[in-house]
Amino acid sequence: MIKRILAIIVGAGIAGGAGFLWYAWYPALPKVAPPQPGQFSAAKIERGRIVAAESYCVECHTRQDIGGGPRLAGDYKMVSPFGAIYSSNITPDPETGIGNWSEEALRRALRYGISRDGSHLLPAFVYDHFTKMTDADISDLYAWIMSQPAVHMTRRPNGFPLSISPRFTLAGWKLLYFRPGVYQPDPKHDAMWNRGAYLAEGAAHCGACHTPRGLLGAEKVPDEMYDGGAVDGWIAPPLNDKNPTPVVWTEDELYDYLRNGVAPLHGPAGGPMSPVAHDFLATVPEEDVHAIAHYFADVDHAAQRVGGDKAALRTAMEQSKRDLAGSVLSTDPDARLYQGACAACHYNAAPMPVLGRPELALNNALWLDEPTNLYLVMLRGLTAEEGQSGVAMPSFYNALSDHDMARIAAYLRRTRTTLPPWTDLDKKAAEARKLVEEPPVNSSH
Ligand code: HEC
Ligand code: HEC
Ligand code: HEC
Repeated sequence: MIKRILAIIVGAGIAGGAGFLWYAWYPALPKVAPPQPGQFSAAKIERGRIVAAESYCVECHTRQDIGGGPRLAGDYKMVSPFGAIYSSNITPDPETGIGNWSEEALRRALRYGISRDGSHLLPAFVYDHFTKMTDADISDLYAWIMSQPAVHMTRRPNGFPLSISPRFTLAGWKLLYFRPGVYQPDPKHDAMWNRGAYLAEGAAHCGACHTPRGLLGAEKVPDEMYDGGAVDGWIAPPLNDKNPTPVVWTEDELYDYLRNGVAPLHGPAGGPMSPVAHDFLATVPEEDVHAIAHYFADVDHAAQRVGGDKAALRTAMEQSKRDLAGSVLSTDPDARLYQGACAACHYNAAPMPVLGRPELALNNALWLDEPTNLYLVMLRGLTAEEGQSGVAMPSFYNALSDHDMARIAAYLRRTRTTLPPWTDLDKKAAEARKLVEEPPVNSSH
């Protein structure tokens, strides 16, 4: 595959720069007068609100560091291996936002990653997914955006080398990795599956976090689609049958997780997954969330695997009880440490975990190749907005040393999984601590 692409580039080189210039150059689109209030029907604006929610436009276009910022006014900081990237103002302000963009200009940006002035946009703006959105959805989205309050605000200059060198070089990246085009329904599947796939692969861009990326930041598709990725220091677990958690992600589990932010047999949506569930998928039509769950239950082959996970569930619940019985405590100092710090909340005596008190043996944090998510949860805790609304976990940033966390991680891994022990646990605990910039306010002592 890679060889073939190189051949194309070499070929393009031989044909001369002219062909590439033709490929890379886009005209500026004319400025238009900002749409008048009342130009769009309420029904159209509401449909656009749903499209925007299913694509998390607000998440990436609202500043969250240095005290936050106005909605959709941009300057949201994204950390990439190449440097910090700040998003644009997409409110209808004509000078600093996209107030004088036509619908055509928005469509071209989402489908081809080209700004109104003709320059190439960074793929941090996930247009490799948005390209799949239909014209009708983009039209509704345009109506919603243009009906939001205009905010006059500019973003910080980004720390990305490409901002110094011409944006033109992005065309080369696109030539290598970007395949524009609206989602094409797969006739082998029913309408619900196709709706789920359309949303997951397009607007909701699940793969942007859950698919691993190569050296130049492109998702490794289709070969490693949904094999698991990394975001903001967290591991986004695999969503296919490589997902390591002992209980299968069925359609029901997926629905609960995506809609309510917590799955009974897995646990809460924490970290960067929390807004996906709470701020966005909780606010869209139920059928759309069902469709996404339906699609992923097929991606992970839940139907073929369900039932085979009963024993794992039983083992997990028995371990929880055995721990509390006290027999291990006298001999194992790690068990004592875990007992004191965690078991009061993570103990389950019933045959099923209690909602809001996740059974750690079933959570991805213990089963991933690295202890990263487990460490981040201990260091940050979980706010009442994450996972199941209203319940919180305190931060152990001050209460546990790196070595304490390493002992708890090793203990949970050896008593609750069938996987090989993690290595370099102390070192990785120190690294995770650096990711949590300062002790969260709700730190326990
Ligand atoms: C994962 C984060 C992310 C999401 C989600 C996202 N954007 Fe962006 N967007 C960005 C970044 C970063 C840029 C700046 C790209 C650049 O500077 O090249 C951007 C740029 C844009 C631009 C170009 C603005 C200009 O002046 O050139 C538009 C238009 C835009 N986004 C619209 C949207 C819409 C509409 C949505 C929801 C459908 C959305 N974005 C969702 C990150 C995101
Ligand atoms: C901004 C990045 C991001 C996006 C976008 C995203 N996820 Fe996630 N997802 C994560 C992270 C990080 C976790 C781990 C959270 C945790 O363990 O609390 C996660 C966890 C999950 C889990 C739980 C996996 C497990 O084994 O515990 C599921 C299921 C999931 N995501 C599905 C989805 C779906 C479906 C979409 C698209 C609708 C999606 N995610 C979009 C980052 C993301
Ligand atoms: C005061 C109660 C409490 C204590 C003590 C506690 N937790 Fe939690 N923990 C919770 C709650 C509540 C949740 C789920 C939150 C939700 O559903 O929103 C949770 C969730 C988790 C998760 C799942 C996170 C995710 O995003 O999937 C992990 C892992 C975890 N805790 C580990 C620990 C460890 C390790 C300790 C001991 C160092 C500990 N917890 C101590 C209450 C607690």
